[in-house]
Amino acid sequence: MLVCHCHAVNDRTIRQCVHNGARSEHEIREACGAGSSCGSCRPAIDRLIELHHDSQSGISSSGAQG
Ligand code: FES
Repeated sequence: MLVCHCHAVNDRTIRQCVHNGARSEHEIREACGAGSSCGSCRPAIDRLIELHHDSQSGISSSGAQG
């Protein structure tokens, strides 16, 4: 799903940025450029960050590898 139309950034890329340590829409912007033009995708970026953290917190994953 395309999240940032200005920069053709999809949700997978955003999730990857969050996974790599981006903790705010601002950090996503720096990481992949999403949200750095018109800004209309910023709420969606925030949402993806929230969803990522929701899925990380409260659930103890036993799948730690590496
Ligand atoms: S849609 Fe992302 S900056 Fe315009």
